[in-house]
Amino acid sequence: MGSKLWFSTVLLAFILLGLGFSATLLRPGSHIDGELRELDEQKIPAIYISISAAFKQLKNIVLGVSGGWFSSINAATGSEPKKTGVILLAPNLTTCHRSLSDADKPVYCCPPKRESEESVIDFQFPSPSSPMRIRRPAHLVDEEYIAKYQKALSIMKQLSYEDPRSYLRQANMHCIYCTGAYNQENSTSLLKIHRSWLFFPWHRIMIYFHERILGKLIGDDTFALPYWNWDAPPGMVIPSMYLNGSFLDKDRDNSHLPPQVTDINFDYVESGLGSEDQIATNVAFMYHQMVSGAKKPELFMGCKYKAGEEGSCDGPGTIELAPHNALHTWVGSNLHPERENMGAFYSAARDPVFYAHHANIDRMWTIWKRLRRNRPEFVDPEWLDSYFYFHDENAQLVRIKIRDCLDITKLRYSYEEVDLPWLNARPKPSIPPKIARNILKMRESQNTMQLSSYSWSPDFGQEGRTLDTTIRAKVQRPKRQRSKKEREEEEEILVVYGIDVKKDVYMKFDVYVNVVDETTTGPESREFAGTYVNMRRGVRLVMNKGDSTMKTKSNLKLGISELLEDLEADEDENIWVTLVPRGGTGVNTTIEGIRIEYMR
Ligand code: C2O
Repeated sequence: MGSKLWFSTVLLAFILLGLGFSATLLRPGSHIDGELRELDEQKIPAIYISISAAFKQLKNIVLGVSGGWFSSINAATGSEPKKTGVILLAPNLTTCHRSLSDADKPVYCCPPKRESEESVIDFQFPSPSSPMRIRRPAHLVDEEYIAKYQKALSIMKQLSYEDPRSYLRQANMHCIYCTGAYNQENSTSLLKIHRSWLFFPWHRIMIYFHERILGKLIGDDTFALPYWNWDAPPGMVIPSMYLNGSFLDKDRDNSHLPPQVTDINFDYVESGLGSEDQIATNVAFMYHQMVSGAKKPELFMGCKYKAGEEGSCDGPGTIELAPHNALHTWVGSNLHPERENMGAFYSAARDPVFYAHHANIDRMWTIWKRLRRNRPEFVDPEWLDSYFYFHDENAQLVRIKIRDCLDITKLRYSYEEVDLPWLNARPKPSIPPKIARNILKMRESQNTMQLSSYSWSPDFGQEGRTLDTTIRAKVQRPKRQRSKKEREEEEEILVVYGIDVKKDVYMKFDVYVNVVDETTTGPESREFAGTYVNMRRGVRLVMNKGDSTMKTKSNLKLGISELLEDLEADEDENIWVTLVPRGGTGVNTTIEGIRIEYMR
């Protein structure tokens, strides 16, 4: 007993020293305990649990209570590797430089005076007694509201470019963070806020300040942006208020103005569907993007982009890919090379409909979060403590962390509720799953699989296979007969890995599972597993020679647990996966392979 206690004490002291040190590195000046209280215990990074467990244990030892020490430490550190220090993502305000549009056109969006020369304050929540701003669907607002918004917008458009609250300066904020005009703090890598877990928080913060500035300009602290309710049939056209006055942007695709129904999965090729079919397809697609394809935070929010070149990733969440990207493209003018304004990131925020589009994107985040009972998206300090700079309604530069934007009630705005027609639009298989499997097996045994587009092995090697035509592969499932509980905890993920888009071009492909005829099947059918979209990104323009320019291949991750259940493939050893390039866009793309993983 004596020696065990002695050993424990020395070990504990050692661990406390180590942890205390790394905790200081992690977040200077933070109050770890207070911040963690509201989080789900299960999700707290292991290191914090170890700290508090170790403190508790120290108390126990000092108080002479013993036993259970080793087990509590083991339980705490069991799953996640220890972190030794956290580097946060943030822009380096001294670095604003020229950048490139999606089509390599040089653009310059930097402020007239460096933001690093301004005084900065840390973000403060608005007073809890200030009025709630209620964001309403754009197709439901009345004349009085439109007049008010119109007034605010024209004042904003008249502010001089020196004023950071002016319309163009705000549009250019989007350009700065989208095209990588800032380097990261402590790194030579560019900071970009699309195609990763920065997407939702950054845009939330952007339109939060935009809304408050508009309100301030007309002295109305209840002013709220409208949202473009494109997830429900009544909102599936460009809202009519955006066709007049200051809301009008001439640079839009004329053939997509009302009454044309939106194609929320647009891929540059007109779907050719009639209104009713298009609406039904849209609703089914929403279900996929919000529910069955979005069961884990990474799938919905995007990949964990971290500081430095090593930490960069390219994995947009479901909603970011579409409807988000798709509608940007759909709205922008077909007569411009990059479908400006909405179709190109550098110019998108010049179109007033951008803000209504992003209000709905933001609303989708709140709904998704509510569907998962408000569990935290991520607890990684790299996400929570990463920060950006914006100007508030008083033209004051504010430093705001992602953790500050996670509770919209604290930000004093909310969304008026409307129907969610997609919520129960769980798609059905296009043909009964048993029949489909028999057909697929028959094809296999008839050796049809040896046709060039079929592949026995889902690993295409380092060279990869070109996606110039449909690719079919049989993919093995490492785990079968998982219990219901296991299936809930661990999402089965279809990974299309090593996607290499060799030329900097737009590219899109769809993924199907156990599909018999992909030419007649779309997102309205259960076999549809998801979609991949590569946007033109431009060669990265860097400030100094030696700044990093590495480009990585990307992976597509699709959650398929629910799909497999509906296709009655849950017990199967293999599934057949079909990749369908869209609009002839796959010629310059190779894929290294397809496999199954599991995500907690
Ligand atoms: Cu930053 Cu909708 O794009």
